[in-house]
Amino acid sequence: MTMTVNILGSGAIGGLCAAGAQLSATPYRLWPRPGSAALNNVELLSGETVNLESQDCDDKALTAADLLIVPLKVTQLKEALKTWRHKLSASTAVVLLHNGMGGMELAAKYLPDNPVFLATTSHGAFKTAATSIRHTGKGETMLGSSPCHTTSTPLNTHIAEIINRCIGPVTWRDDIQTALWQKLAVNCAINPLTALNKIPNGGLLAAQHTATITGVCEEVCAVASACRIELEVNTLAALVFNVIERTAENFSSMHQDVIHKRTTEIEGINGYIVKQAKKKGIDVPINTLLYKAINAL
Ligand code: PAF
Repeated sequence: MTMTVNILGSGAIGGLCAAGAQLSATPYRLWPRPGSAALNNVELLSGETVNLESQDCDDKALTAADLLIVPLKVTQLKEALKTWRHKLSASTAVVLLHNGMGGMELAAKYLPDNPVFLATTSHGAFKTAATSIRHTGKGETMLGSSPCHTTSTPLNTHIAEIINRCIGPVTWRDDIQTALWQKLAVNCAINPLTALNKIPNGGLLAAQHTATITGVCEEVCAVASACRIELEVNTLAALVFNVIERTAENFSSMHQDVIHKRTTEIEGINGYIVKQAKKKGIDVPINTLLYKAINAL
């Protein structure tokens, strides 16, 4: 059975998913946010442009033959899930794909019965215009089932295969939470620092940022450990620097949000660390400083 992939919103990662679906002849529909235009084209790394030919979006409910990919900011997730839960059958699979944390808890509240998957990607992309996306960096996608939901092994395999076509290569992670915390550390370090200093990711290779980046990693490790996720500081710092090198020419999503005066994802990134740290009685001065500085912009 080939599922129809339903992609919410008009963001850059959603655009990459749509282009991947189209190029692999996977049926898909784009569901722009009410009042905003649907994506129109995606420029690939090769320079070639994919003109998106999404299926019609009628208002019929989604079924088990549909997959819903939600590549929205975590700040937009609550409203989206509240609206979409009425359009889904309990067997419609849902993939949450966003920076930062908090999606799993919202899905547990609003979609308790659906098979829900969590994903994180390191592909780079940005909007060149309201309906145009450019793919700027090849990455990979980690996928796993939400610990708060029930999924079956055949469904896991099927969803991994579809996500692989849309935004692969996909690695299935039984420990998706660990992958999400690792990506959280990457975003906690890169996103606010690039936005505050108005630099591309590669600007963080300058020696003046090293202590802050290492400090962010130490704090994330301490909070993760209190949340029963074991990470290792040196491995985490090496991962962050690896992403900085691989995406040196990219402008982080938070930098772009700040430039375009859009709401940032700070609440689900450094804000999540600050909140969890408070609950666990841990001091996170660097994350707190970055959180406050972005909110003060
Ligand atoms: O948010 C982003 O921009 C990306 O997640 C990352 C990995 C920091 C690269 O720019």
